Amino acid sequence: MAALLEVADVTVRFGGLTAVDAVSLQVGAGEVCALIGPNGAGKTTLFNAVSGNVAVTDGRVTFRGEAIHRLTPHEIAAKGVRRTFQNGGLFGQLTALENVLVGLHTRVDSRLLGLLAGRKAARQAEQAATRQARELLDIFEIGHVADTPAADLSGGQQRMVEIVRALATEPPLLLLDEPAVGLAPHMRAQLGAVIRRLAAERGIGILLIEHAIELVMSVSDRVVVLNYGKKVADAPPDVVRADRNVLEAYLGHA
Ligand SMILES: Nc1ncnc2c1ncn2[C@@H]1O[C@H](COP(=O)(O)OP(=O)(O)OP(=O)(O)O)[C@@H](O)[C@H]1O
Ligand SMILES: [Mg+2]
Repeated sequence: MAALLEVADVTVRFGGLTAVDAVSLQVGAGEVCALIGPNGAGKTTLFNAVSGNVAVTDGRVTFRGEAIHRLTPHEIAAKGVRRTFQNGGLFGQLTALENVLVGLHTRVDSRLLGLLAGRKAARQAEQAATRQARELLDIFEIGHVADTPAADLSGGQQRMVEIVRALATEPPLLLLDEPAVGLAPHMRAQLGAVIRRLAAERGIGILLIEHAIELVMSVSDRVVVLNYGKKVADAPPDVVRADRNVLEAYLGHA
């Protein structure tokens, strides 16, 4: 069976800089694949290539067997590839709850539903979405700030809202760019548990960029290591931990 996500020989160039250099990787349904490497290694650029936020110079990205590397970010998201951004992407004036609902509305278009099934059905769909969003915020221990504007939340709380928004639609593939930044240790542990559960119980494929190495080692089935845009390792966590290429990639930048 084809992998959920297949990145095949993908290269991304910015002028003379090759940020991603002929990288191939696969993520299966229910699999957690970590993407690690030093600063500037090309991790976020590879995410951007998958989500349609940068142009792929060369190579192919397929999702469920279908080429997606020429589609727009919106088209790719609509197919079920959801992501979070390294530097956040919340609407500051909207509350935490409203930010999550924005994510859900791309799936449940209540206006369309209203036309098709009448206003009552639309209102019920809205109420169900709100209930679901509140439950998710509760699970991530941020239910008490559901009605607070995103701009007034702590960095860690904003991170969690962004993650909740991305996963609220239960996308088949979730891309998380450094989700643990700014999270207190107990929230990191919580995040790790949620990532494992999403993969194991819901079959969601997860590609995770993360510098918090203990989180990477505890949640990943496989770890892909980038260095100067090139893939230098792709193996289970315990193998990668002992890999000479990986140690050199990190020590070279220490
Ligand atoms: N839009 C862009 N235009 C030009 N250069 C870019 C662009 N985006 C990224 N780069 C460059 O591409 C290289 C890879 O950057 P990228 O953000 O992918 O690294 P990263 O592995 O995510 O690093 P970090 O761990 O610091 O987030 C860097 O040299 C960066 O400056
Ligand atoms: Mg990055």
